[in-house]
Amino acid sequence: MKDKKYEVRRRYDATATFYDKRYLDIQMTKYNEIFSEIDINDSEIILDVGGGTGLLLDFMENKLSNIFCCDISFNMLKEGKNKHKTSHFVCADSDQLPFRENRFSKIICVSVIQNIPNPQITLREIYSSLRCDGILILTALTKLFSDSKIKEMLHKARFSILKLWLLSIEDLSVIAKKKDC
Ligand SMILES: C[S@@+](CC[C@H](N)C(=O)[O-])C[C@H]1O[C@@H](n2cnc3c(N)ncnc32)[C@H](O)[C@@H]1O
Repeated sequence: MKDKKYEVRRRYDATATFYDKRYLDIQMTKYNEIFSEIDINDSEIILDVGGGTGLLLDFMENKLSNIFCCDISFNMLKEGKNKHKTSHFVCADSDQLPFRENRFSKIICVSVIQNIPNPQITLREIYSSLRCDGILILTALTKLFSDSKIKEMLHKARFSILKLWLLSIEDLSVIAKKKDC
C-alpha cells in the first residue's frame, strides 16, 4: 500500500506545474455541476481532501476563506499556495487526516479516490472529520467505480446518500450525510 501511495505522490509531484493547464477546464466543469446542487455560506469550514493545486479555491474565487486544502503531494499544494497565499494548505495522507473530529461542515473529495489503495480507510477518516450535520461531496471515475460500488462503499462507511448522479465529464457524483446523526 505504501508503494502505491509513494508512486501516486511522485506522479503528482512531477506533474504539479502543468496540472492546472491540463485539467482546469475539466475540473471547473465538474465543480460547476456539483455546486449547482448545494449551497455554501461564508461561515462554513470546508475540507478539500486531495485538493491538489486548489482548483476548488479557484472556483470559489476566494469567496470563502475557510477552506482547508489537504493533499499528499507537496508540489501540488505548493502550486495552490502560490495562487492562494492566505488559504490553508496541509500536506497529509487522506487515510490519516490531521484534523479533530466533527470539525468540517462540508468535505469535498473530487477526482481523488481512484488514487487511493483502500478508499474505505479514507471514508472512515472523512466520517470522523465531518460534523454531524455535515455534507460529503465525492466524485469517482465512472470507468473504475460503478453506482453500486459507490453505494456499497458509502453504506459501509455509515453514510446515507442524498443524491447520486452522473456529471457530464468522467465522474459519478455523490452528496451524502452521516447516517447516525
Ligand atoms: C486528479 S487530482 C484532483 C485534484 C483536485 N481535487 C481537483 O479537483 O483538481 C488527485 C489528487 O489527489 C491527491 N491524492 C492522491 N492520493 C492521496 C492521498 N492518499 N491523500 C491525499 N491526497 C491524495 C493527488 O496528490 C492529487 O493532487
